Amino acid sequence: MSYTAETRRRRTFAIISHPDAGKTTLTEKLLLFSGAIQIAGSVKARKATRHATSDWMEIEKQRGISVASSVMQMVYRDHVINLLDTPGHKDFSEDTYRVLTAVDSALMVIDAANGVESQTRRLIEVCRQRDTPIITFINKMDREVRDPLDILDEVERELGMPCVPMTWPVGQGKTFGGIINLRTQVMTVFESGSERLPHDFDAMPLSDPAALKARFGSEWDTALESMELATGASPAFDREAFLAGKQTPVFFGSGVNNFGVMEVLDALVDLAPSPGPRTSSFIVNKQPVIKQVQPEDDAFSGVVFKVQANMDANHRDRIAFVRIASGKYSPGMKLKVMRTGKELRPTSVVTFMSQRREAVEEAYAGDIVGFTTHGGVQLGDTITDGSVNLLFTGLPFFAPEMFMTVVLKNPLRTKQLQQGLAQLGEEGAIQVFRPEMGGNMLLGAIGQLQFEVVQHRLKGEYDADIRLEASQYTGARWITADSPAELKEFVHAYPQRMARDAADTLAYLCTSPYDVRLAQERFPKIHFHPLREHA
Ligand code: G4P
Repeated sequence: MSYTAETRRRRTFAIISHPDAGKTTLTEKLLLFSGAIQIAGSVKARKATRHATSDWMEIEKQRGISVASSVMQMVYRDHVINLLDTPGHKDFSEDTYRVLTAVDSALMVIDAANGVESQTRRLIEVCRQRDTPIITFINKMDREVRDPLDILDEVERELGMPCVPMTWPVGQGKTFGGIINLRTQVMTVFESGSERLPHDFDAMPLSDPAALKARFGSEWDTALESMELATGASPAFDREAFLAGKQTPVFFGSGVNNFGVMEVLDALVDLAPSPGPRTSSFIVNKQPVIKQVQPEDDAFSGVVFKVQANMDANHRDRIAFVRIASGKYSPGMKLKVMRTGKELRPTSVVTFMSQRREAVEEAYAGDIVGFTTHGGVQLGDTITDGSVNLLFTGLPFFAPEMFMTVVLKNPLRTKQLQQGLAQLGEEGAIQVFRPEMGGNMLLGAIGQLQFEVVQHRLKGEYDADIRLEASQYTGARWITADSPAELKEFVHAYPQRMARDAADTLAYLCTSPYDVRLAQERFPKIHFHPLREHA
């Protein structure tokens, strides 16, 4: 049986933005207008923690809330839409990169006053690398913001791809009159307030310019002029180009006022892609067998892109978030972790219905299911029904940019520390390196906050009180060689610099950027990798 009809009606996307651009607000409105939630405010709980910076209690809160709200499913116009949230704080950017591997498109929210901000820039880079199609929403048009042409220009430069306006604003701030839908040639008239539903706004056809001019005066003339400039300068919308990550459709609006949101929801259905094929590279007799796995294939398969410890410290269970790549999940089916060949026996399997977790009845490619387990599953693992040999790659681990040495305060807690570090390493909360020559474990991170979270969690969940000491290391490179002899020679030359990460992959620790260069010059046949893909 083929699952084509089910996979074609699925849309899985990530919502990305710089903090404060309006991501939470827009998420909530999308859920509201698709009927997934009845009253606004339920996503807002996150707001309270939004400004969490270095306080670990806040981090904990955020972590708890994010279990519930990092994946949300809604049904709109007979389409199943999976929305994946991305952590706002830059120190958790690694998590975000991984979330982006689990989606088929991204919705980028930009504050019209601030344009493209630093966090957005980093996210864009990742989308660009993967050619992820991006839909752009320019938010807060009810405020005094920048000229729309100016914003488009900036988005274009930052994205490195043309913007294709799908709607166009008339005025802004106090004189914000509404948006023109370029396809339908109808203007939707803005009114502020969060009570109004999208269909309650006045609509005026462009075919009656006298009425529009009479109502909006000079704003109307200015808008027409800039709209002509914008459409003249940009290419026509080309779905193929959008799907290839080569142009972005742009929408204007005001999330908090429910304005321009429906257009985005419709774009997700009409423009965003359904799940596509994924590449599997399964090793047989040391040779990779490459296979394109189609979403509608019979066999169930998926990838763990996120592992989250349960909030209840007394239960050591964890939720493995799996993005389904092919087939159908149904309750009670056998599951196999391809890395170990072992069966996965989850205690529960849930889907994420905006805030509620529900037992999964069926799920298809594009959907996210959460397997609650007591272990045996790691970030990046491929899960199948056991009927096929598949191994998905592509979940990135970035070489840490900062290191700390772990010193256990009470040596009797060594076992707990090891267990804690192993589990937190598997979750991807931090990278754990074990020096080959022995000695204290090293923690590697991309953002400083990761250390604080791990220190706090080790104490709270594993009763292992640690001190973190400065380390001489400032970077790491995973190393490989074409022959075992070459690798051995290299390891011999730098025994103190060798360490293994949580996946037992060999890494070379460096103390300066020159380090790698020198080592590379000395051993030209060794490959130094700044990125490890889970295999
Ligand atoms: P984030 O998730 O991207 O961090 O942003 P969030 O939605 O929390 O929005 C950040 C702030 O911007 C909030 O204000 C929110 O109300 C406001 N906002 C969102 N969309 C719009 C919009 O279209 N127009 C205007 N004028 N403001 C918008 P806050 O003061 O931080 O919170 P609140 O107390 O108003 O909820």
